[in-house]
Amino acid sequence: MVEEIIPRQPIKSGLYHDVDRDMLFTRLLEENKDVLLNVNLSGLGKSSTLEINERSAELEKMGKKVYRFGLGQSPFPVPEDVVESLRQNAHQKDYLPVIGLEGLRDAVCGYIERKVGVKYNPQNVLVGPGSKELIFLVQLAFDGELILPAPSWVSYIPQAKIVGRKIRLFPTSEETGWKITAKMLATLIEEDSINEYSKPKLLLLNYPNNPTGATYTEKELKKLAKVASKANILIISDEIYGDTSYDGVYRSISRYYPEGTIISTGLSKWCGAGGWRLGVFIFPEKLKWLHNALSIIASETYTSVSAPIQYASITAFNGSPSIERYLVNSRKILEYIGHWSARTLRNAGITVNDPQGGFYLFPNFENFEDAMNEAGIETGEELTKRLLSDTGVAILPGKDFSRPITELTARLAYVNFDGGKALEALENGYGELDESFLDMYAPDVKDGILRIVDWVGQFK
Ligand SMILES: Cc1ncc(COP(=O)(O)O)c(C=O)c1O
Repeated sequence: MVEEIIPRQPIKSGLYHDVDRDMLFTRLLEENKDVLLNVNLSGLGKSSTLEINERSAELEKMGKKVYRFGLGQSPFPVPEDVVESLRQNAHQKDYLPVIGLEGLRDAVCGYIERKVGVKYNPQNVLVGPGSKELIFLVQLAFDGELILPAPSWVSYIPQAKIVGRKIRLFPTSEETGWKITAKMLATLIEEDSINEYSKPKLLLLNYPNNPTGATYTEKELKKLAKVASKANILIISDEIYGDTSYDGVYRSISRYYPEGTIISTGLSKWCGAGGWRLGVFIFPEKLKWLHNALSIIASETYTSVSAPIQYASITAFNGSPSIERYLVNSRKILEYIGHWSARTLRNAGITVNDPQGGFYLFPNFENFEDAMNEAGIETGEELTKRLLSDTGVAILPGKDFSRPITELTARLAYVNFDGGKALEALENGYGELDESFLDMYAPDVKDGILRIVDWVGQFK
């Protein structure tokens, strides 16, 4: 069944969120009750992320140890070659073309050709201040409805609400790895055709996935592509974690449906450079009209991305043997930590899939539901709040990722470790990763996971 969220009707406060924006809007509303805000902003209330961050800060102030598993930031430093390139280009001061520096667009096409095997025209690349901004721009420009699997990344829905876009959610389940299937998509299309309800559709597909750590197989992508292509659905393939797949295989649905897919990527995750704010969209020729539209909005809003960052990003997208080693080693570290964490939680009775890329787990505490309910924990938010105050472990409730409020799911980011030191250990020949690697290089992750295990013991 597909859940529909009609914009311009407030939804329950805090159901969907983004930390910075929520903070701003909540403050505006609290401090200035008669501000005249666009009705689309109603319902974008204070998020549980914000509350958990505030509570974490309070606990730390009180001298308590907090395990920060809430923030989705890469634990690794930016590769040295890329940092050096930024140093060399600090003097670059000119405004650059709206669609991005030519050399960078060439490098991005080279990167995609190496990873995906599809050739793109550098004229059809758009460089933006983070892929988040580009995803927002496409939501603003496209005339149709947004289709999303649930769970999904936190910002897709608030963005859609801000621009007044209709959202249709596919609730997924653990059994299908929290993924949508071609059959689900086909059913939606069929239902719409019977109802003569056929708005153009934009499907946002993210893999490896935030918040679940799952990725699609080639076969699944091929099947989804076939259905999407038949129904002329526009896909944004959010491949921001594409280079973090633990098996080293970069997957992209654009291989099977190039004409209807926009590839979205950037430096934030595989290159550890979230704060550099560099994202890219790669369009096929057939979607040139959308590239043009986004370029116009870009020219009237952010103009172009910071020049030194664009020059340095050429080095990142061109790649090098040392960047390749950085990627191989970061994947190895994340895979070990992610699998160890999932295994340890499962052994304690928590339901959770092994992650296949990125740095997230999406545990489900449903096995403890009765005892938790008796203890007054009836929602994911109550669970995460209680876990934080009892153990100092900060995770985010599933509702922030569009799951039902009463579902006892949560997102756990296993990034609370010094990625630089861990990478150095591998560079220096650390052999097979084992638990002593965790003790030495990710002790807080190990401790935090063991605290969760201890904590659920009382609900058995
Ligand atoms: C799934 C997903 N997509 C997109 C983004 C946005 O990344 P950026 O704007 O840093 O390129 C993020 C960042 O957390 C993400 O997790």
